[in-house]
Amino acid sequence: MRARPEERATALTALGSDRRVLREALGCFATGVTLITGRHPGSGALLGVTASSFNSVSLDPPLVLFSLGRHLRSFTGFLACDRYAVNVLAASQRELSDRFASATLTEKWSGVPHELSPGGCPILTAAVAAFDCRAWARHEGGDHVIFIAEVERLFARPAHHPLVFYRGDYRSLDTRPGEHAPELDFNFQIWG
Ligand SMILES: Cc1cc2nc3c(=O)[nH]c(=O)nc-3n(C[C@H](O)[C@H](O)[C@H](O)COP(=O)(O)O)c2cc1C
Repeated sequence: MRARPEERATALTALGSDRRVLREALGCFATGVTLITGRHPGSGALLGVTASSFNSVSLDPPLVLFSLGRHLRSFTGFLACDRYAVNVLAASQRELSDRFASATLTEKWSGVPHELSPGGCPILTAAVAAFDCRAWARHEGGDHVIFIAEVERLFARPAHHPLVFYRGDYRSLDTRPGEHAPELDFNFQIWG
């Protein structure tokens, strides 16, 4: 079937030097929001950065990825870590997302409810899901580095709705009041 003129993608724009165009187009891809955490092996300082670049890679072995900008203050800290945790933020955690997306705030962990995983990484008490991981590989990715991590432990609270990021702003899933996400057909063990 032929696409109507307004539905055709013939107006593909050559990517020029204006990166706002690329950002806007990439922003059409809705994502969840995560807090990637770690603990500096030298100083013991807790690390945390808001990231939407999280994705699954492989089930066997169980691998996930996220990418971090080289310009981040916490970048060298994460490079030094051999363990990370990925916290999937809940719809109610916008403020935490903003907090850990701040490029100036110094005491990011002050007053933030969390516990340390067996791997030593901060896990947010109210996260929708969390993955406790060990470093698996790193790949160059232009001005970012892609971190691949092996999942060792996890938990999920499927009844909690996740925070969504779309076109530069937070969204929540379109659900009816009081509606819960479907239960999963297996039980998660916390730190099993
Ligand atoms: C919703 C959202 C998603 C983000 N995703 C990423 C990401 O995937 N990778 C990244 O390097 N920065 C990402 N950022 C930006 C960092 O959170 C931000 O640069 C933060 O200041 C880094 O903290 P730091 O400089 O103290 O390390 C994201 C920000 C927001 C608000």
